[in-house]
Amino acid sequence: MATAGNNATTADLAPASAPEAPSSSSQQQGSKGSSLPHSLSKDRRIAEHASGRPLNLQGSKTLDWGEDAPEELQGLEHDASLHVFSAGYDVYALPKYHMPRRGMPAAVAAQGITDLRQLDHNPRLNMASFVTTWMEPEVTALMQDCLNVNLVDMDEYPSTTDIHNRCVSMLAALYHCPTPPDKAVGSGTVGSSEAIMLAGLAMKKKWQARRSAAGLPADRPNLVMSYTVQVCWEKFCRYWDVEENYVTVEEGRYGITPELAKQKIDENTIGVVGILGSTYNGEFEDIKGLNDMLEEVNREHPEWQVPLHVDAASGGFIAPFSYPELQWDFRLTWVKSINVSGHKYGLVYPGMGWVLWREPGDVPDDLVFHINYLGSDQASITLNFSRGASSVVGQYYQLLRLGRDGYSSVMSNLATIAARLAAGILETGEFEVLSKPEGVPLVAFRLKQKTDEQGNPVDRGFDEYDVSDRLKEHGWVLPAYTMPPNARDVKLLRAVIRVDHSMTLVEKLIGHISEALALLALHESRSEASILRHLRQHKQHHRHKSSPHLQVKTTSQC
Ligand SMILES: Cc1ncc(COP(=O)(O)O)c(C=O)c1O
Repeated sequence: MATAGNNATTADLAPASAPEAPSSSSQQQGSKGSSLPHSLSKDRRIAEHASGRPLNLQGSKTLDWGEDAPEELQGLEHDASLHVFSAGYDVYALPKYHMPRRGMPAAVAAQGITDLRQLDHNPRLNMASFVTTWMEPEVTALMQDCLNVNLVDMDEYPSTTDIHNRCVSMLAALYHCPTPPDKAVGSGTVGSSEAIMLAGLAMKKKWQARRSAAGLPADRPNLVMSYTVQVCWEKFCRYWDVEENYVTVEEGRYGITPELAKQKIDENTIGVVGILGSTYNGEFEDIKGLNDMLEEVNREHPEWQVPLHVDAASGGFIAPFSYPELQWDFRLTWVKSINVSGHKYGLVYPGMGWVLWREPGDVPDDLVFHINYLGSDQASITLNFSRGASSVVGQYYQLLRLGRDGYSSVMSNLATIAARLAAGILETGEFEVLSKPEGVPLVAFRLKQKTDEQGNPVDRGFDEYDVSDRLKEHGWVLPAYTMPPNARDVKLLRAVIRVDHSMTLVEKLIGHISEALALLALHESRSEASILRHLRQHKQHHRHKSSPHLQVKTTSQC
């Protein structure tokens, strides 16, 4: 269960004597515990506010709001004439550990939270994320309009339910589902993670049913997938007791292959996962190859019936438009389910995913809850009950607004911009690009191995993490991370191109990457430590003549 401490930093966990430590008594606030003069009454404050004189508030420690509003501020909450930054509210740190007994004026609460949020990065410069950070004002208004609509209340909001079902139908048709669009089976979810939990559960339950019907044990299910799967697949396996049956990766191969997957499959395999758009480097795995391999396996072992699930979190809104000929969806017989994130290249703000099944028989009955709505039977397949309707409305808007041509233009523009970024990065002469031209519009890249005149490897004195840190100084967020086990030595940086990343911005980014490299190289060449390190390395090299391996910082990406 999530706890309030989840996002606590070390500073947050400081002992109670620290300036910002929680205070439990209102007495500590205001007159007694604070350095705010006791005499500073409401009247005096208002008088001072009116006269425009600065308030004489001195103190060397942080004044905490605590559970009760400080005495000096009590009763001011109804004075609309007060200025947020002159009434004295900003002298107190906002409550952190206890809900205040008395509220505060709306403007003060809003300003305080806005101020806190200023310390976050600018979402549009967050090149780490695949998730949409810009939508048109028209759809933003539409989405705001249904902030108070609970999608689950199908009786009360039949049109919103209809909008949801229209999206399911359109996506099923887009993915060449053999089930007619008006009978398509699928559901809106919070994101691909929820969609994956549902698709994974469907595979597990179908496998269990097959095994039980054959009188075979059904207690050791496994799922075959690449080590490059997103963390939600690990979650699925751990939450629902499925063994993670990984195909490892290696330098130069960062995904599953049909041959390697085949070696992992056995009678306990509930399914195989193919990724259309790897989180690590954006590449599309060979879904057609996986399908053909399963065709063979299931012919050899008709009792296994191993299905293929396509994790199209990113690729599901790219492939149909940029690579319409690519065989990855329900055109392939063994593709039984697909997930896609509406909030990635579906171009909707966070909170939108979709899961679709090939046909009704691919969803076990006990995953479907039937809600009798206005006389007709509505199937509900979700993990949670209540959820907002805004993102579904946003998705329907995007499908209508852009149409197939609009999505094609957007995806083609993004590919052009990503190609320019890749070229700019290569022009520095210091990087190599690990993403492929076909796939998600992103650039995954790493520093080239530097060598001396004799061709011997030389430590640069800085790595991808340092480049990432430098770029933050300009506001850019480009994550540095390592590849999964077996390729952990591969460190890389990633810049995801989204709909709101214009060529103008990307040209700026290229300039900042060059600047970061130049500064890092300069600092490195000036540092005494570096000279010593180079000398040491030089000596070691002549002693061992073996290639030094990079120092690896282990961190998980995303
Ligand atoms: C390939 C892949 N699958 C699943 C997910 C999880 O998606 P969501 O964030 O929509 O839950 C991601 C997220 O980056 C992803 O890249």
